[in-house]
Parts: sequence; structure tokens; C-alpha cells
Amino acid sequence: MPKTSKSAPASSINIGISEKDRAAIATSLGNLLADTYTLYLTTHNFHWNVTGPMFNTLHQMFMVQYTELWNAVDPVAERIRSLGHAAPGSYAQFGKLASIKDAPATPPKALEMVRILVDGHESVARTARKIFPIAEKAGDEPTADLLTQRLTVHEQTAWMLRSLLEA
Ligand SMILES: [Fe+2]
Repeated sequence: MPKTSKSAPASSINIGISEKDRAAIATSLGNLLADTYTLYLTTHNFHWNVTGPMFNTLHQMFMVQYTELWNAVDPVAERIRSLGHAAPGSYAQFGKLASIKDAPATPPKALEMVRILVDGHESVARTARKIFPIAEKAGDEPTADLLTQRLTVHEQTAWMLRSLLEA
């Protein structure tokens, strides 16, 4: 029988965050990933299906927003991997993990789309904000940094969309 090595095997993780904290943060980041992906898809859907006098403005605005969201899923998923966990990446998993609803099957009117997206960005902001205390307590600065970046984007985008609803 081979002697047990005192040094940790190459596949183990020893970054100064406990296994329990890594698991808790990775699980919560799975919620953030599912929310971000769902909001990405809804925004892209609305880019395709928006109609009415604001078509050009909203079609373009939604493109900027879905591109940003699409680029955001990767760093969230890769942070989960860096913490030693598998990143969720299926519609079935996202359906279970997301706090926001799927896009409606029938395209809503333009301003209702905007309302749905305001709700979506606010929901993702709440999901991200909930992870902060766990990440901070564990000394997980990279996650806290990622959350700060995501919060900035979601709160700013929610404000811009909300402004369209003001008469
Ligand atoms: Fe397009």
C-alpha cells in the first residue's frame, strides 16, 4: 500500500477559503449565473420581437444590453470553477436556479418589455447583493469584486430602462 503523502494532491484546492465557504459561494454564484443567463435570453428575445414607434431605439438598446449580459456569464461561471465546483449550464438547471421568470411566450408591447427588463435587472441585483456577506466573511475578494461589477451594471441598466417609463 502506498504511503499517504503529507502534501495535498494536485487536484485539491488550498486557496485559504474553507471547503464549506467555497461550496456556499459557488452555489450562490450558480443562482447569479442562472439569473444572468435568463435575463440575457429575455433581452435578446425582446431585441428580436420589439415593435412600435420606439423600435429603433429599443432594438439597438436591447442589443447593447444582451451583449453585455452574454459577456457577463463567462466570468461568473469561471469563478465557480475557480472555487472547485461545476458550473450549471443547462436550461433545466437554470430553470431551477433562476429567480427571474422565463420570457413570456407571446411578445409583450414595447413598454411592457421595458418593465419586464427593469424587474429582471433589479432581481439580478438582489441575487448578487445576497452573496456579498458570504463572500466577504470568507475573504473571497475576487467574488466580491465580480459582484461589485455586476451590481454596478444591473443598477445602472435598471435606471436607464426605468427612465423610459417616466412620462
Ligand atoms: Fe440583431
